[in-house]
Amino acid sequence: MIYFDNAATTLQKPEAVVRAVQHALGSFGNPGRGVHGAAMEAARTVYDTRCALAELFHGEGPSRIAFTANATEGLNIAIKGILNPGDHVITTALEHNSVLRPLYELERLGVALTILPADDRGRVRYADFEAAIRGNTRAIVCTHGSNLTGNLVDMERLGAITKAHGLLLVVDASQTAGVFPIDVQESGIDILCFTGHKSLLGPQGTGGLYVREGVTVRPLLSGGSGILSHSKTHPAQMPTALEAGTLNAHGLAGLNAGVRFLLETGLDTLREKSLDLMWAFYAGVRQIPGVTVYGDFSRRNRCPIVSLNVRDYDSSQVSDALFSQYGIATRPGAHCAPLLHDALGTGNQGAVRFSFSHHNTIEEINMAISAIGEIAEEE
Ligand code: ALA
Repeated sequence: MIYFDNAATTLQKPEAVVRAVQHALGSFGNPGRGVHGAAMEAARTVYDTRCALAELFHGEGPSRIAFTANATEGLNIAIKGILNPGDHVITTALEHNSVLRPLYELERLGVALTILPADDRGRVRYADFEAAIRGNTRAIVCTHGSNLTGNLVDMERLGAITKAHGLLLVVDASQTAGVFPIDVQESGIDILCFTGHKSLLGPQGTGGLYVREGVTVRPLLSGGSGILSHSKTHPAQMPTALEAGTLNAHGLAGLNAGVRFLLETGLDTLREKSLDLMWAFYAGVRQIPGVTVYGDFSRRNRCPIVSLNVRDYDSSQVSDALFSQYGIATRPGAHCAPLLHDALGTGNQGAVRFSFSHHNTIEEINMAISAIGEIAEEE
């Protein structure tokens, strides 16, 4: 199989990730729930994973990283934990449903919502953010990189806006964590939500959020914490404040190994390889008559994603043909980004998304270009 579905989840993990999970499964007790060797080993690994992520994102320290099952959970905690009825929040048409649906839910409860439009190449205008700010605006919630087009949003520009107006900046880094360097302090990011199973190279069921020192997020869950057990309220200190119940320590052991692999190898080396492949694929497919590519390709730096359609063919049928006839794995359909599909004009057709990793090769790229060429020739 040629695996071009890395934006959904990375398939090839470093050997160290596999070994770490296997080791954890055979040796971990419950982290933070005891002082015997097995519990302590799990607790140390969880703590070390917080340290690795704080280093990767340049957070103030390990206590600012709370773990969740995925980016969706982190985004729900962040969005529902900072907004109140009467507040106003700004987001964009680029967003995934993990941002849009919690915001729609809050809109029904009295939070005012502004969704900034995207143009037909999936771009937002930075001036729109500033223009949308009102007296009661509390936050900007925005993706760092679109899971559909791969377009990036400049977080330093947004951070400058939120800082100047005293707003919170909440970032969905699902597609960029582990691909691009993220410096939360430098960029003025207040809350960064990430998933573990994509470019951080960890297992599914891992993710979390960085919360800036001084920012308080109301927890979504309360319950077992392993500390202050006689208190009727869930502990307020980070990271326990946003973690209730037993963590996925087995998964976090793998995430730790994934992040350590990235820190040792360097993001630039891995990203440049995926971007070279993405650009080769883009150059090949954009020449093929009947192929439409979506997104902004005016700058080299973007997520290693190319979404396209072939003529007016249903994207699911094209994706199915790619897999059944050529062994090429892609994602078709709506990509959980309904407003961006509307902006691109692919609301009905969806799009076939190719997403690359450093594990792919130029031979695989050439095979996929030929496959798209053959499908485009079929009537
Ligand atoms: N959000 C993931 C994707 O874009 C699952 O495929």
